[in-house]
Parts: sequence; structure tokens; C-alpha cells
Amino acid sequence: MSTSDPDSTSELPAHAVLEAFRAAVWEHFHANRREMPWRDVDDPYAVLVSEVMLQQTQVARVTERYREWLEAFPTVDALAAAPLAVVLEHWQGLGYNRRAIALKRAAEQAVERFGGRLPCDEAALRSLPGVGPATASAVLNYAFRQPSPFIETNVRAVFLHHFFADADGVPDSALMPLVEATWDRVDPRGWGYALMDYGVHLKRTAANPSRRSSHHARQSPFEGSKRQKRARLLRAVLADPGAPAESYAEGLGTGLPEADALLHELAIEGFLVCEDDRWTVPER
Ligand code: ADE
Repeated sequence: MSTSDPDSTSELPAHAVLEAFRAAVWEHFHANRREMPWRDVDDPYAVLVSEVMLQQTQVARVTERYREWLEAFPTVDALAAAPLAVVLEHWQGLGYNRRAIALKRAAEQAVERFGGRLPCDEAALRSLPGVGPATASAVLNYAFRQPSPFIETNVRAVFLHHFFADADGVPDSALMPLVEATWDRVDPRGWGYALMDYGVHLKRTAANPSRRSSHHARQSPFEGSKRQKRARLLRAVLADPGAPAESYAEGLGTGLPEADALLHELAIEGFLVCEDDRWTVPER
């Protein structure tokens, strides 16, 4: 079904077409709903943790790690008060360590600025480190049950499949009016889950509709990448803090100049500090 022209962002399909689409999404959800430990959870902190983890890590891996994280850091206050090395230690295996620092900084700011609560307000949520538009909206829909239409990869797949079957290079600005017009105002939490599950289903069964988005990007390979070397270096410092750069370079199997450059890069981003040529993770 191709009912929209990608260049026209103002004209919506007929009401009946939008309702048929909504019925199809709900029908799929009622028959195929996936259970996940962060679903039907009211705690905005727990929802934020799950969403930040899910930004770049697969559901199966996050499922293993989400509960552990909440046992270690059950509240915003607990995460804000924890030493950075302990936080990073608990993030290992999830990838993209920057998210762990951002989550901790977000917790610190929630303590300082909002009395240890996550705000029920899109602009305030987005002002927190690591919280982009989709993550802020997810917290609003899932924890606060406040309708907040958003686009992320699965939502994109659904709308591309249904409304732009024959189009290429479709920008999110062409999808957003449809996302807003069809968003469920009564059960925004269920609707968000339904879109996620349907999007995942479409990506598995149809040729991934997201390829036709102008926002489509592939993750670059990890093996042999700079990202992998940075991850290894951070792991090495966490496991054996206080050693000189030479010792970490040896473990990495690279020359000292490359390891040293990467260690300094990690320091600029707040992962590490260096004193008297000894590398550690800062206390905070
Ligand atoms: N359920 C709630 N949030 C989700 C997400 N980001 N991905 C998949 N399922 C989810």
C-alpha cells in the first residue's frame, strides 16, 4: 500500500486508511506480543536504563544485563553515588561505553536538578546527557504513559512499509505527520511496544524497509576497529588500574604511540585520568 508521496508532508491519507493501519499494528501485537523485563514498568529510571541499553545493543543481550544493573544501581541516587569504575565495570559487554558515562551523568543531574526524580517533561528529559528525542519519548510513553510520538529504527520500518512501499530515500520529516496522526492517545505504552514488535517483525520478514529511509546507516565492523581497541584499553585499565601506558600497549598488541593516543582520547572523554604516567578511572 503506497498512500503517501514522500515530498508531501502536509497531506495525510484518509481517516479510514489510518484506522486500518492502526488496526493492523494492534492486531499483530495482540497475536505476537513480546514480553521483556522492562515492559509494563512504571519506574522512569528503570525505563531509561533499558532504553539507553537498547539504543545500540540487542534485546537478548540487554535482557541478561538489565536486571543485574538494577540490582547494582536500583535508583537514580544509587547510580549517581557509585564510583565511575564500578559503573563502567557493570557496563562491560554492552558496548559503546560512552552510554555508561552519559547514564551516570544523567543520574547525577537528576539528583542535582530534579531531587533524584526523572522529570515527566520532554525538554527536561532531553537536557540530560545521552537522552535524545527517541529516548525521551520512550520514557514518557512507557513510564509516564504520556503520549509522545517518536521515530526510531523499528517505528521507521513500520511507517515505510505501510505508507512508502515504493519510495526511496524517505526522510523522517515525511514520516512524522503519519506517526503523530496515528499515535495512540489512550494506551501510548502499548502502542509503542506494538510498533517496536511490528517493526522487528517486518525487518525479519520483508526486505528491511529501513533501507529505503534517508536515515539508514549500517554499523561499521567492530573487529579490528578503533572502537575495539578503545574498548580493550578501558577493560585493561579496569582490570589492572594504575599501570603505565607501555603495559597496556603490550596487552593491546600495538605500538606505544597508538595506545598512548587512544588512552589520551579516553581521558578527554572522561573515562580515564593519568597521574605520573599511571592510568586509572576517575573516582567520579
Ligand atoms: N520495548 C520497549 N522499548 C523497546 C526497545 N527500545 N526496543 C525493543 N523493544 C522495546
